[in-house]
Amino acid sequence: MKYRLSFFTTIVYSIAFCFAAAAQHASFRQDKLLLQTIGKNFKDADAQYKVLMKDLPPDRFPKTYDPRTNKLETSNSGWWCSGFYPGTLLYLYRQTKDEVLKTEANRMLASLEKEQYNKNTHDLGFMMYCSFGNAEKIEPQPKYKETLINSAKSLSTRFSPKVGCIKSWDSKPSDYIVIIDNMMNLELLFWATKATGDSSFYKIAVAHANTTMKNHFRPDYSSYHVINYNPETGAVQQKRTAQGAADESAWARGQAWGLYGFTVMYRETKDKKYLDQARHIASFILQNPNLPKDKIPYWDFNAPNIPNALRDASAAAVMASALLELCRYSNQKDNQLYFNSAQTILQTLSSPAYKAKPGTNGGFILEHSVGNFPGKSEVDVPLTYADYYFVEAMLRYQNINRQY
Ligand code: GLY
Repeated sequence: MKYRLSFFTTIVYSIAFCFAAAAQHASFRQDKLLLQTIGKNFKDADAQYKVLMKDLPPDRFPKTYDPRTNKLETSNSGWWCSGFYPGTLLYLYRQTKDEVLKTEANRMLASLEKEQYNKNTHDLGFMMYCSFGNAEKIEPQPKYKETLINSAKSLSTRFSPKVGCIKSWDSKPSDYIVIIDNMMNLELLFWATKATGDSSFYKIAVAHANTTMKNHFRPDYSSYHVINYNPETGAVQQKRTAQGAADESAWARGQAWGLYGFTVMYRETKDKKYLDQARHIASFILQNPNLPKDKIPYWDFNAPNIPNALRDASAAAVMASALLELCRYSNQKDNQLYFNSAQTILQTLSSPAYKAKPGTNGGFILEHSVGNFPGKSEVDVPLTYADYYFVEAMLRYQNINRQY
């Protein structure tokens, strides 16, 4: 009888385990045509990035391209986007095994390495994790590990326990400015705790996310772009925008950064409150009456001249990548919606409306992103991060039914 009971218990546990595993890694039906398109997109992207690298001056990082002047705009390694070019090259290399891409990525990593000591920016997650983080995943090396740990240390110096956040932008002493984009820098900190066993990085990431959850979001789960805290008390002094249409509007890329950031928070902590937050943000985006059918958002959900406002391919690419992670978590009724929406975004971005003709667009993969509309900079242009998250989303789509 005792034997029978334990046999029965084992069977019950096995079935329960199988259901739990199935819920965590549900199987999604991929669109065969989109899979073929993605295969072609990778080949085209490989060729495009060879066009891009040909025109890149030494020690300069691509930013955007102006078709009217046929001019590639570049930056130094301190610009917040410097990690995306090497990161995209490494993602493409993972797919195509084209050594030319890896050699170019290594050349750029060498130029970027010094930023590990940069304490003047909150963007070190973007800059170092999208580049060295990808390099470490493909070919782990002590040098990459050290660079990433130093980057996490530099980023941590910008954390204030009084405010409970990492400072985004330096300003006058009475300001402490945090932007929603900063959620994207936390992944580096989680990696650093796993690499070193030092939990302080993890704790900073959790504190930052909790403070952001409390103050950056409106009741409908849209987010403000900028919160200005009192550095002495941590009280909120101002909620406003910088790159959005208005203080009370929902800047599209900001919503995408929040979605991606809280999805990562759930991955790294398994705390359900972050999963709920990511799901609420997803609902705000996907059920928004101003989201077009092809799922490429206007640059702001409240842009004044919708439906004639510009679209932002970069926000769409970030959303697609985040949704393709979120759809894999727990047994949520909305998982299929997340997957389908990401699929639609990838289909639209792969169409001639957004994907550049080979040999054009300065070598960038996608057209039609909006960097800073109110600042009249990088409006309706290619951007390195649109390419990076598009490529990441395509890889996630291909591997959607595989265990990570
Ligand atoms: N993180 C800056 C931007 O999204 O434009």
